[in-house]
Amino acid sequence: MDTNDAFQLHLQKLPPQDEKTFETIYTLGNGHFGVRASNPLQGNNSHFNGQPGLFVNGFYDLTQLSYGENYSGYAQNSQTICQLPDLRFIIFELDGIRSDETPYNVKLVDKNLDMRTGVLMEIFDIKSPTNKLFRLTLQSFASHADKHLFVIKYSVSALNFTGALTVIKQHPYINQQIQSRTDDMRASRPETALDRTFIKSKLPIMLISTRKSQLALIVAQQALKDNPMQVGMIDDLPCHNKTFDLTQGMSQSFSFVYAISYPHPLLKTTLSQSSFAASAEKRLANKSFKQLLDESAAKIGEFWDNSDVELTGDTALAKDIRFNLFHLYQAAGNDGLTSIPAKGLTGSGYEGHYFWDAEMFMLPFFIYTEPAIARQLLLYRYHTLPQAQRRAREMGVKNGVMFPWRTINGEESSSYYPAGTAQVHINADIAYAIDTYVRVTGDEDFLYDYGYEIIVKTARFWLSYGHWGKDIAHKGKFVIDDVTGPDEYTAMVSNNYFTNRMAQNNLSIAVKYSNQLKHSHAEKLVTLNVTDEEIAQFNQAADEMYLPYDDQKKIKMQDDLSTSKPVWPIKETPRNQFPLLLHFHPMTIYHYQVNKQADTVMTDFLFPKDQDAAQLKRDFDYYEAITVHDSSLSRAIFGILAHRLHHADDAYGYFMQTVMMDLSNSQGNTSDGIHAANMGSSWLSLIYGFAGMGLEKDSFNLSPELPEAWSSLRFRIWFHGRQIEITITQTAVTVKLLSGNPIKFYLKHKAFKLTKEQLVNHFLK
Ligand code: BGC
Repeated sequence: MDTNDAFQLHLQKLPPQDEKTFETIYTLGNGHFGVRASNPLQGNNSHFNGQPGLFVNGFYDLTQLSYGENYSGYAQNSQTICQLPDLRFIIFELDGIRSDETPYNVKLVDKNLDMRTGVLMEIFDIKSPTNKLFRLTLQSFASHADKHLFVIKYSVSALNFTGALTVIKQHPYINQQIQSRTDDMRASRPETALDRTFIKSKLPIMLISTRKSQLALIVAQQALKDNPMQVGMIDDLPCHNKTFDLTQGMSQSFSFVYAISYPHPLLKTTLSQSSFAASAEKRLANKSFKQLLDESAAKIGEFWDNSDVELTGDTALAKDIRFNLFHLYQAAGNDGLTSIPAKGLTGSGYEGHYFWDAEMFMLPFFIYTEPAIARQLLLYRYHTLPQAQRRAREMGVKNGVMFPWRTINGEESSSYYPAGTAQVHINADIAYAIDTYVRVTGDEDFLYDYGYEIIVKTARFWLSYGHWGKDIAHKGKFVIDDVTGPDEYTAMVSNNYFTNRMAQNNLSIAVKYSNQLKHSHAEKLVTLNVTDEEIAQFNQAADEMYLPYDDQKKIKMQDDLSTSKPVWPIKETPRNQFPLLLHFHPMTIYHYQVNKQADTVMTDFLFPKDQDAAQLKRDFDYYEAITVHDSSLSRAIFGILAHRLHHADDAYGYFMQTVMMDLSNSQGNTSDGIHAANMGSSWLSLIYGFAGMGLEKDSFNLSPELPEAWSSLRFRIWFHGRQIEITITQTAVTVKLLSGNPIKFYLKHKAFKLTKEQLVNHFLK
């Protein structure tokens, strides 16, 4: 294997991990689906202990949530992404013994992911119960040219024998068995049961249906024309099969393409299953492995052209960064009907749910580098507005919408409301993301057609959910009670700083865009019933938003009562008692000042102009001391702020922990899936952190400063239809306009004009 290149992720060069962690790390995906890189002989054989499976974005089943005390408005169903049969699964037969009936010995020899082409190459040595040894080499990829396709090539070569080897490519099971852990609520998942039928066709075409959500998925299988294979029936199931005459030392290859297609429920299509099956079959165009690969690799090439971050001075780190970016690309839904699950499409952790993770931690990467994908991700929220409106009414909120804390289909799926539904900040997070998208892309059509409606309806939520304060402390102020901020170790409080500041922003941008559209597209305001009176109410609530502040400590207070509680004895707590959520009752934790993750300081990060350096330092020091980072969404934010405070070592340390989180399995649960928000945070740390990117009116500012260990950092962004390349070294920054019209931008807040003819080269030191 050629593994020297900067885009190769070679097993031998990674820190050692358990099998399931590597299955996650090497998962292949394309936003539509993900396939874990498991032992291809496992299937449902309990002899092996991997966690194989196919995850299709948005394809879930429902399981009824059971509560001892089932209060009104509690989420009634959990949506769980289905762990579908492993497409890599294969059956061998040697000397009349089938590998799915009597386990063969499977030894992983090597793996390498080429992130430039998306091809995963794997080598396994397999021994039959009769001691015949052969080598299986797999080459597989999830197509980025046609997102429905998964392609896999198997090569077998006999190592100690000459003789017949039969290959059977079928899925005798439909419910992919997994060994789920039940002691970790982040991993635990209700079992879902799937049904299967085969559609009459020349090919094995499975129709997989869920019992409760009543979704149906088509998986069509075809042998590629490079090495045709016949379709037959074995055990009453259609399959491809062939017997090869192997000569010791000679290898034989055969390859398959899978088309995975389903009518997404948000699509509300009237097409029948058979037409979906027909379209899946049509997708299996008669192409060779190489043709399919070339098409897909070309798409990935475009991704790298837009999104690569080239770091020099630390080759290993440069590759680790690419690993994070590649996984983000592999995870992002791009059909307007799906988003990015917290674990990407690499595992069943968090049941495949979408959280604020997508908008706040991952979306910025796409907004700046792949704006078309960012648009699709935001469209997903637009398509779930009806559910969010119903939920608001169900929760007694008279106006506006209330987005779910965790969901797949747009409905609330959180069973523990204090750390779930109560995180109403998600509404403002979505609005913030839309504002960023519009400011960076200038996509006025999106604003008009979709974004503005979400911003107005979430602003209405705040007016309904909050109220005007009456007691002395809050008189004349707009207050928001009974919420949980990002820090899930503090719940159901009044005036969570982050929530109130984000709500304030939501209300302000509703005013900004209402005033803007009033002039250009007044009819939009009429359609949405936005009146001058309502705009004035948004404005007043934003102006008078209550933001708790501790006058003695001179810090932003996490909520009305936060600083009066005792501090959790973090240093005295043994390491094995973390994460606290797995060892202490929530109320025990709520009793103390202890933060699971960045909360109040998220506002320092998101609104850099809110505070001066002295305020930032006080907030940072205070909250860093009480934060345990039990969430993977935490360290990067502290790292970016450390950078802004010129604490170079801390910034670098936090960054390294962020980038390496999944490769080093530092949270201990990468086996359940990647930490996708943290991967997005790797990009945030580089661009918002070390490059110091910030938004200005119709422009952007850069305040770069590299860690000493790096020689240079180069990346590209799209800004209002222009592509711009930025190269930062220890001493200078060079900004080039690759396409589009001239633009004024800022370097350390000094204005520069950038044209195609005239790049900007500026010395930093
Ligand atoms: C964090 C949340 C996050 C969720 C999914 C939780 O542990 O506290 O902020 O949204 O994980 O990643």
